[in-house]
This record gives sequence, structure tokens and C-alpha cells, in this order.
Amino acid sequence: MNTYDEVYRRSIEDPEGFWREAAEAIHWDQPFEKVLDQSRVPFYRWFKGGKLNTCYNCVDRHVEAGRGDRAALIYDSPLTGTKDTYSYARLQGEVSRFAGVLRGLGVEKGDRVLIYMPMVPEALISMLACARLGAVHSVVFGGFAAHELAKRIDDATPKVIVSASCGIEPKRVVPYKPMLDQAIELAKVKPTSTVILQREQALAELTPGRDHDWAQAMASAEPAACVPVEATDPLYILYTSGTTGQPKGIVRDNGGHAVALHWSMKHVYGLEPDQVYWAASDVGWVVGHSYIVYGPLLYGATTVLYEGKPVGTPDAGAFWRVIQEHGVKVFFTAPTAFRAIKQQDPDAKLLADYDTSGLDALFLAGERCDPDTLRWAERNLKVPVVDHWWQTETGWAIAANPLGIEQMPVKAGSPTKAVPGWHVKILDDTGEPVPAGHIGNIVVQLPLPPGSLPTLWNAEERYRQSYLDAFPGHYTTSDAGMMDEDGYIYVMARTDDVINVAGHRLSTGALEEVLAEHPQVAEAAVIGVHDDFRGQVPVGFVVLNAGVDRPHDDVVAELVQMMRDRVGPVAAFKVAVVVKRLPKTRSGKVLRRTMRALADGETPSVPATIEDPGVLPEIEQALGTVGYPKPHPAT
Ligand code: COA
Ligand code: AMP
Repeated sequence: MNTYDEVYRRSIEDPEGFWREAAEAIHWDQPFEKVLDQSRVPFYRWFKGGKLNTCYNCVDRHVEAGRGDRAALIYDSPLTGTKDTYSYARLQGEVSRFAGVLRGLGVEKGDRVLIYMPMVPEALISMLACARLGAVHSVVFGGFAAHELAKRIDDATPKVIVSASCGIEPKRVVPYKPMLDQAIELAKVKPTSTVILQREQALAELTPGRDHDWAQAMASAEPAACVPVEATDPLYILYTSGTTGQPKGIVRDNGGHAVALHWSMKHVYGLEPDQVYWAASDVGWVVGHSYIVYGPLLYGATTVLYEGKPVGTPDAGAFWRVIQEHGVKVFFTAPTAFRAIKQQDPDAKLLADYDTSGLDALFLAGERCDPDTLRWAERNLKVPVVDHWWQTETGWAIAANPLGIEQMPVKAGSPTKAVPGWHVKILDDTGEPVPAGHIGNIVVQLPLPPGSLPTLWNAEERYRQSYLDAFPGHYTTSDAGMMDEDGYIYVMARTDDVINVAGHRLSTGALEEVLAEHPQVAEAAVIGVHDDFRGQVPVGFVVLNAGVDRPHDDVVAELVQMMRDRVGPVAAFKVAVVVKRLPKTRSGKVLRRTMRALADGETPSVPATIEDPGVLPEIEQALGTVGYPKPHPAT
């Protein structure tokens, strides 16, 4: 068997040979002419000239191979008390019919379809139906409110929006349709149609002529066949937070994506095609795209779609139940989910009620995994626990312990080593490599492997500026960290204004924009502060207009509500303080890093260019009124 070192070296020294071989696992309608097109460096493209259909590779091909009876998708929803299994053959029927519905609404290859849905099988069916037609889907997470949805509608300009009447959270039903209507109202570009899945928990009112009922549309639809597309054609756009309030539309292509994800199922996760894989995330995030939908299905495995939470649906044993009941082999979630379980059941007593011996491995990602959580999971589950590091942009893991190649010793706090294909380096701000064990900018030497973003939707210049300009010849991850003598990578912090709240990526800039819209707010700053459960939570600082003489608590309550209405509950924005002024440099830059250090109870490094150091005690005092720093600083 090849060892990690051999496989890694080959992937870096001969990327074309390496990925040509991996591409053999995919069905191509037309073979590619070139493995790697380097005609427009620094923009690289994989598998140029090749044609394929991602939906065919995910669904039809397994049916044609005689595996139609095999379970493709297990839907498990403690929130509605529903369980359902879709064989590959059944999934093919549903997907091809929904592709027919979309085609009937005028959707053709290259058109965008926005999907705003809870965790129901129809979300996955919609995504695959788009892929079937060569249409480009853009899934928006259900926890985002109308304003954020409208931004994405305007950028992606979808012809059709697919949604549901409601999502279900443990303590409430969330009507989606009013938010969708409001978003369409706010958007400058209107879709021509919507398709709405009616859920009995809250039926939606449909606008005649524009809104179509999912069930009715499906009843009369003709199945549509797979449309071969170029390997380099976009499969989807997934918006993620950047430095500004305008989200970045990460583009994923068809060919590289299929090859990389298929390869990762075996080599990173160590799964076999007849096994069950469960990513407890949401289809609205990259983890959901790659490992609830595309990865497991490309591989012909069984995927679990779980509409529930780690705790409260009904208790902290929910994950163990699903693992037992569906025979999950490889499980993937975010550390915050395990912190939630650990908080409610510190000794994992509920595990005793279930047989999880079928589980081979747990993978964690989405945020830094604190060593406590890692050890708790290892101790209780008694399987390898793999922290792996990736981003919406990369689409799959940059660093991991690739169990399907070689299981390496774990070093707590490190997502292990660079995954084959990823030439990771640590550079200082001038672009020079830093010695082992020293912190710097984590970058990846170009070309990035297949499956990573080729560009941003309609924003090639922003792509270049955001990712390629800082360190020519390299992709900038915007994560800071180090590599030790053994090549283990440590991811420490973001170098930009992105924060990570319960594994959800948010832009402080977007949150600040909302605060600044309050008519009595003159200026605002948001920082991400350490939180034992969510990893980070946002804390707002606002300066009120001169002469505003209202109780601060009233203003803060309005700000918290505004954030919920505009960004969505997922921002978990609960804390803001009114201050007289913000700490700034003489050139007017807000010192967010200094504020964050104060909030986390660390000694801030105060830049010499600070306008007035006297503002810092004021900030400390304001933080004290909302309980920061917390008694237990960051691990
Ligand atoms: N639709 C509507 N509202 C939603 C929602 C959705 N899809 N998802 C979350 N919300 C709401 C929640 O109900 C909550 O509302 P509240 O303020 O009224 O309580 C709020 O948004 C905050 O949600 P969250 O921070 O997710 O807390 P939670 O208690 O609902 O769940 C976790 C906690 C740990 C289970 C959840 O955050 C989680 O699964 N995180 C992992 C994310 C992940 O997999 N990321 C992968 C990235 S790589
Ligand atoms: P997202 O694009 O939402 O997946 O967020 C990506 C960011 O989350 C990364 O740039 C990191 O800052 C952080 N992240 C994800 N996984 C890890 C991990 N395993 N360790 C440390 N940080 C992580």
C-alpha cells in the first residue's frame, strides 16, 4: 500500500498524472484534451475539453451498473418524526422529474436556480436536478433572512427559485415563504417563477402565475435526461462571507469537482462504496454540498440527510441513535456540535443506550477543534477522530489525516498534514517562507487541485485580488498558522474580518453594515469574541449620534432584532454595547484586533499609530458591563 509521503509527493511532482488517474473513476461523455490548462495563468482549469454530467455520475450511472436498489439517501428527521429511504432508482425518478419541472419553467444549461430550503430530500433533489440540466444552482442557507437572500438573488440572477413553505427549528416553525417574498421584493432582479414545497407545519400562500406547488408540478412533469456539460462549466455558486458585506460567489466547476470529491471519499475518509456516510451539516454550507450531496453519491455510497440537532431532538443521544440505526461508518460534523453534546451529557452516559461499534471514524471541520473536544470524542467513541481543515473556497480538505492512505499519529490542535494535491506553505508578510514552528500566512502554491474554486461568480478581478495578489503564485487562505518539523499544520486564526460562529462563517463587515443602518447609530464595529460553545460570538460596539438620549438597553434591543431580521438568527448576535468612541489608528482604521484581545482577556498589542490610547480603558469598561472577558479564556 502507498504511504502518505509517496502519494503526497507524487501529487505535487506530477499533478497531471496524479489527477488523470483519479479522473478514471468518473464517467466522461467526451474525454478531456488536457488535464491542466495553463493557458491563462494564474487562472488554471482542470480537464479542459472533457464533457460529463455530474448528476449522471451521482445517480444514473449507479442505476445502470445494477445498483438501483441500493440506498442512496436516508432522510432522518426527528423534528418532524419522519424517516425515509431513497434507493438510487427512486432518486433517479425524482431527480429526472424535477429536472423536467425546471425545464418546463424555462431552465436551460447555464441558467441559475436559487435553492432556499430546509434539510429535506427535495433540497438534494433540486440540486441534482439542476446538475442534470447543466443549470447552476445556488443554495442559500435557511438561517439567513430576507436581506441576505436578496443580495444573493441580485448577484446570481436566478430564473427560478426553489423553496419550501417552512423550516423547522426545535422550538419554532420558521415560515420561509414570507422571507422569500420579501427577498424577491427587495431584489432588483426578479425570478420568473418559484417552486414551493408545501410542508404541513406551515402552508405557504402561493402567488398565481409565479409560484408553483412542488407536488402538483411533479405530478405532471416529464422526466428530463442528463445534459453533458464542459468540465469547466459551473456546477454551482455558493455564497460565503468575505471582508465586505457583499458575499463572495464561490464557483465550482463540474469536472474537477467530480474527480476530487470521488477521490476524497476513499483516500481522505477511507470509505467503501457500499457503506454509509453521514455529514451532520446543512445543505446550505459547503460541507453539505460536498459531503451530504455530491461526494457520497458520486462514490455510490449511502448518504444521511438529518433534519435535527445534536441536542434537544430529543436529547444529547441523537447522534448515537442515527449512527446505530443507519449503520453509519464515517461521520462528519463540526466541533461545536460535539461541544453541545458534551455540555449536556459530559460523561456521554447516553452512549450506553446505543451500539455505535459500526462507526469507523469521526471527522470534524468548520472551525478550529479545541483539544478538549477532540479528546472527549476519542475517549467516548473509541474511533479515530480526525480534525480536518478546509474552506468554502477549497470545496474539500486542504489538511487532514487521510485515513484511506495512511493513518498518521494525531497531534491535538493540528488537522495533521497537507492532503495530496495541496502544496501548503507558510509565508511571512513579504512572501518569504518562515521556519518550522513559526506563525505566518498559510498559502497554497498554484495550481490548486481540482475541485477548488476557479473564480468568483461574475467577479474575476475580485477573485484575483482576494486570493492571488497578496502572494504571487499562491492562493491566500486568509488563515494564519504554522507547520512543525514533521509537516503538521496548525491553523490558528483568520487574518481578515471573517468570524466563525458555531461553524458558520460570518463577515463582521456585513454585521457592521446592519448596525450602521440604525438611524441613531453614528458608527459601529463588530468583533468575534471567544465562546466556549459556539467557538466565537459577535459582539457589537456602537457610537450613537450626538444628542441621542435614550436608554442604551432600548437601542441595543433594537440592534439585536435588526440583526435577526436582516442577517438572520444564525448570526447569534445577542450582545452590543454603546461606547463614546471606537479605538482607531491615526489614519482612522478601527482596531478590531486590539478590541478582540481585550474581550478575550489577552494582552493586546497596541499599535504605535493608535490615535488615543485613552480609549482602551473605556472599551474594557464597556466589555465588563456585558461580562467580558469571561473567566475561562480561550483554550
Ligand atoms: N433556519 C432557520 N433558523 C435557523 C436555522 C435554519 N436552517 N439554523 C439555525 N437557525 C437558528 C436557530 O434556531 C437559532 O435561533 P435562536 O436564536 O432563536 O435560538 C439561531 O439560528 C442560532 O443557531 P445556531 O448557532 O446554529 O444554534 P443552534 O442551537 O440551533 O445549533 C449547533 C447549534 C451546534 C447544532 C449548530 O450550530 C450546528 O450544527 N453547527 C454546525 C454547523 C456546520 O455544520 N457547519 C459546517 C461548516 S464547515
Ligand atoms: P467555511 O468557508 O465556512 O468552511 O470556513 C472556513 C474557515 O473556517 C477556514 O478558513 C478556517 O478559518 C476555519 N476552519 C475550518 N475548518 C477548520 C479546522 N479544522 N481548523 C481550524 N480552522 C478551521
